[in-house]
Amino acid sequence: MSNSLFRRKNISSILAEGSDDSHGNTGLKRVLTVKDLTFFGIAAILGAGSFSSLGFAVFHGGPGVVILFVITAIACGFTALCYSEFASRIPVAGSAYTYAYASFGEMFAWIIGWALIMEYSIGNIYVAYSWSDYFTSLLSKMHMHIPAYLSTSYMEAKHAVEGGSTNVEELEAWNTAPLIGSLRMILDLPALVINFLITYLVYRGIKESRNFSNVMVILKLAVVALIILVGGYLIFFNGLTDNWMPADEAGVQSFMPKGFGGVMLAVSSVFFAYIGFDAVSVLAEESKNPQKDLPRGMMWSLVICTVIYILLTLVLTGAVNYRNFEGVGDPLAFIFEPQNLNVGWMQFFVAIIAVIAMTSVLLVFQMGQPRMWMTMSRDGLMPPVFKKIHPTYNTPSFATIITGFVVGVPILFTDKTFVLDFTSIGTLFAFVLVCGGVLLIPNKEKVAGRFHLPYINGQFIFPLIVVASMFVAYLLSKTYFTDMFNFDFSANKDYSAGKKTFMDLATLNISLIVFWICAILLAVFAFVKKYSLIPLMGVITCMYLLTGMSKSNWIWFIGWLVLGVIFYFMYGYRKSKLAPQQ
Ligand code: ALA
Repeated sequence: MSNSLFRRKNISSILAEGSDDSHGNTGLKRVLTVKDLTFFGIAAILGAGSFSSLGFAVFHGGPGVVILFVITAIACGFTALCYSEFASRIPVAGSAYTYAYASFGEMFAWIIGWALIMEYSIGNIYVAYSWSDYFTSLLSKMHMHIPAYLSTSYMEAKHAVEGGSTNVEELEAWNTAPLIGSLRMILDLPALVINFLITYLVYRGIKESRNFSNVMVILKLAVVALIILVGGYLIFFNGLTDNWMPADEAGVQSFMPKGFGGVMLAVSSVFFAYIGFDAVSVLAEESKNPQKDLPRGMMWSLVICTVIYILLTLVLTGAVNYRNFEGVGDPLAFIFEPQNLNVGWMQFFVAIIAVIAMTSVLLVFQMGQPRMWMTMSRDGLMPPVFKKIHPTYNTPSFATIITGFVVGVPILFTDKTFVLDFTSIGTLFAFVLVCGGVLLIPNKEKVAGRFHLPYINGQFIFPLIVVASMFVAYLLSKTYFTDMFNFDFSANKDYSAGKKTFMDLATLNISLIVFWICAILLAVFAFVKKYSLIPLMGVITCMYLLTGMSKSNWIWFIGWLVLGVIFYFMYGYRKSKLAPQQ
């Protein structure tokens, strides 16, 4: 039994399938260059994270969120290198799922596929909500008003009332909503409509052509550059630079007014902004030289987006005091509103481009999800109907419709914060497994012209890094380690403004304890097995980001994984192509 759970697909058979007509991946022309791949990466990365969740991030962490952007970029950089290693060995239109099938075996591959539903589908719920925020604000600038109860999610309005929020729109939605019995009719209609339209487009087989995608990216980059230039200029011209050192609760000016704990509360928002670089790996079969160009495309898109995020965060927190971003879903337009920098045309311009930018992200992920299910169905892990191709439109029709439902139904009863955290936790989990997977695959011969993850022996360096990090953590806060075990309620002061409960704080400690235990174990393994340093760093940095997730999200996530394992045993385990023939 245990062996069959870890049955693996061997790399040569995956490669053979990738070039097999019946697998549907052929006929794809190898036309994409490094530039195209970089553009595709930016198309998938730059979206709701920068246009929307950045507002939540700076509200929680203040200007110091910049530090988190750098830490997250490093974690994503290590992960991108691990993706590249896999993409170079298995240059088929794969994903973390395919890679895991070759390294960890079937059960983990299934779990990754299951967790990635969060990246693709649940992530798109967040993008749809953010799309709706900008779309409604665009309409209102054109003097067309959608009632607040038709452009707010039910849960958001409910939480606003219960939590004593000052967000006018959310409160208005609650107070003006028509009642059916005792149920308030509150729903985010634009988010539902855009999901329907995108699903329809994907069903009909829209091909995001290279040129279309490139134009979108150029537009996005142009508007972001404009925001940085105009915003940056006005910060200095209006003498607003003090906003970069706002007062903390004790009245002391600080770059991190809610401490590092406050910055860590922004993990989900910040990480979400980076999600998408991994989507480049699905283009393996369409790139001219995947072994060389995929890694470059991923790294370039990551570097460009990191620079953009740092500059955008500085502009946002310079233009407006970070506290004013509570509940602001369209922060890049918000900073140009009359009470802030007061540049009317920028508000309008930003809103239009944001709507376009987020549409491109929606398309990338809404196309990715059914294709991943299709691959899983071909492996026998999902019912055959998921690999069904529409005779006319040539798309995985059933899987596309199901994706539409998986994105659409939760729009009715979730809220942005929940889906943001859920997406980030699932994706980070998958990243940890991808980096871990690289540790397990055997070393390969170096082939000229192909990407080859440099082997740096982690035997001594990694344990040293772990010990040094513990030492630095202790130097920064003498009570760092004791606080993890002795739950100190007074520590909650750092979190009071971040809508965290005492229980959430307790979770943070539990995840830190688990993190350090894993770090020590990994150091021991690195020492004994002489593991390669880069994947080790990928595992550990992604695990560190996971410590920022709240207890309730862990509970939801674990529940999700348990459900996935039950499905696997009920279906995939028996129906897998690798299962013994009965
Ligand atoms: N990184 C993507 C976005 O921000 C998911 O929309």
